Amino acid sequence: MLQCPSCRKFVILPSERDGVASYPQFEFETSRLALRLARRKDWRALHQVYNAPQNFAYELSQPDTERGTRDKIRRSLFPSKFAKSNILLFTLCKREENEILGAISVTFKLPYYAADLGFMLRTDCQNQGLGTESVAGICQFLFQRIGVEKISAMTDAKNKACRTVLEKTGFTREGYLNKFFHHPERGWLDAPLYSLFASPPDATSEA
Ligand SMILES: CC(C)(COP(=O)(O)OP(=O)(O)OC[C@H]1O[C@@H](n2cnc3c(N)ncnc32)[C@H](O)[C@@H]1OP(=O)(O)O)[C@@H](O)C(=O)NCCC(=O)NCCS
Repeated sequence: MLQCPSCRKFVILPSERDGVASYPQFEFETSRLALRLARRKDWRALHQVYNAPQNFAYELSQPDTERGTRDKIRRSLFPSKFAKSNILLFTLCKREENEILGAISVTFKLPYYAADLGFMLRTDCQNQGLGTESVAGICQFLFQRIGVEKISAMTDAKNKACRTVLEKTGFTREGYLNKFFHHPERGWLDAPLYSLFASPPDATSEA
């Protein structure tokens, strides 16, 4: 994906030489889920996800205020706000249903070949395999439809659910930050960094 320097529109470049460029469509399905970009009117449903204290047991930030959830959505609106924030926020619903069960944020590093993931589910929707299914789905979407080459995610070392989701999705540990952050209540936090590549990195370039 790139942003045209003259018209400022985002386009997907064709992977083949004679292919045709297209505009990105940010909607896709997995076996049980439908994912699409968050809209302003989703804020109440997303606030259930972003305001739950249990969901922040391993986060550096606090549960969102209503304004915080609204701001999260606003910053990610495509294309106008995305052009500045480089963040897309996807909602996930069961297929054929509109109820929002969780969200995945995708923060791109320019020029849109690499992205960091953040994911969170409504507390009553966890441990049903939906985290793994949605992360696998977004990775496939980013690789195949947006042309991303590398996807990364960092987590608290103690966040077993998150680490399991990443490992089951094929992410491998690329690094480990000891004493990454000193939390006022949890003390020193360690943070493994996970990555997944569209095509395996060239091991021969290692110094
Ligand atoms: C992380 C999160 C998205 C996972 O979603 P989910 O739908 O519950 O994940 P899944 O059901 O696909 O898989 C969770 C796995 O973790 C395991 N797990 C969950 N809690 C665990 C714990 N406390 N200790 C060990 N394993 C745990 C589950 O058993 C499951 O593994 P299995 O399929 O091998 O049995 C969800 O827990 C969540 O929203 N957490 C709060 C926010 C968060 O931590 N986000 C991640 C930031 S990096």
